[in-house]
Amino acid sequence: MSNIDNVVNFIKKTPKSELHLHIEGSLEPELMFKLSKRNKIEIPFKSVEEIKSAYNFSNLDSFLKIYYEGSNVLITEEDFFDLTWEYILRCKKDNIVHTEIFFDPQSHTTRGIDFNVVISGIYKALTKANSEFGITSKIIMCFLRHLDEELCFDVLKYAINHKDKIIGVGLDSSEKGNPPKKFKRLFEEAIKEGFLTVAHAGEEGPPEYIWDSLNLLKVKRIDHGVQCLKDEKLVEKLKEKNIPLTVCPLSNIKLCVFDKLENHNLKKMLDKGLRVMVNSDDPAYFGGYLNTNLIETSKALNLNLEEVKILIRNSFKSSFLDENSKNNWLNKI
Ligand code: ADE
Ligand code: ZN
Repeated sequence: MSNIDNVVNFIKKTPKSELHLHIEGSLEPELMFKLSKRNKIEIPFKSVEEIKSAYNFSNLDSFLKIYYEGSNVLITEEDFFDLTWEYILRCKKDNIVHTEIFFDPQSHTTRGIDFNVVISGIYKALTKANSEFGITSKIIMCFLRHLDEELCFDVLKYAINHKDKIIGVGLDSSEKGNPPKKFKRLFEEAIKEGFLTVAHAGEEGPPEYIWDSLNLLKVKRIDHGVQCLKDEKLVEKLKEKNIPLTVCPLSNIKLCVFDKLENHNLKKMLDKGLRVMVNSDDPAYFGGYLNTNLIETSKALNLNLEEVKILIRNSFKSSFLDENSKNNWLNKI
């Protein structure tokens, strides 16, 4: 068997965790179409094929426009349940045993959808995932960084009522021009309330946004972070503090952060000893779930079995699981 066949087999059969997945980004065109009919919500597409052919993006903002439009079909608790359950079935297929999912409440509450409807649908599906398949999960609530900090305080209040379900808060949406410092007070308050913090930084934005996420937002993980290699001092800091970087290779290609997968800097990050792992981000939009991300990236960057093992182990190590559960999975890889 060739080296790459070995790697592919290993990826498929090994238990894995995923730490960077927007649940709204797992909305497959088929379900989007079904929900648009069920809820009588107009979408600007006539067929599933038309939806799929609209998925050509030139940067993050061009994707976000379509992503928020797609989310408009999500109305009822059942819709959020169905969305999450479909992702869980993908987890089962890909042998993902633990997942930490983002949700964007403000893209729903601003349309008049009750926060409780959103969180209940997601949570019920995750509870079922645990009882039927043993899949464990955590929920991270993201603030939309293109909105004002003041508006984000409102949604933090909702999250406080659901501390039993939400482990942390994150920051996503349009990065350039919306620096972490805009949300310093909000994150201070979230930390006071006991939430862990993470933030998208250095996806398209400069290394300075990664520095500020660490220093001002006190994040436990950086989401993406691929721009860090532009700043040697930052790389040293990330290594010294063992900060996880939740890299999403297929996302970076679809959003033109790198021109092709062969030119992605994941291997360079690995070689520098950074704590990186692979994730799918918005798999319904970017052409693949976790196994596809791992397999395509391994092929394009010629990763060997040892490097793939490091990526998968890094994911468990960087998760918000308790130490016992982490060690339990790490011993199996
Ligand atoms: N929301 C969903 N996917 C995102 C991404 N890749 N970057 C920022 N915000 C997002
Ligand atoms: Zn993301």
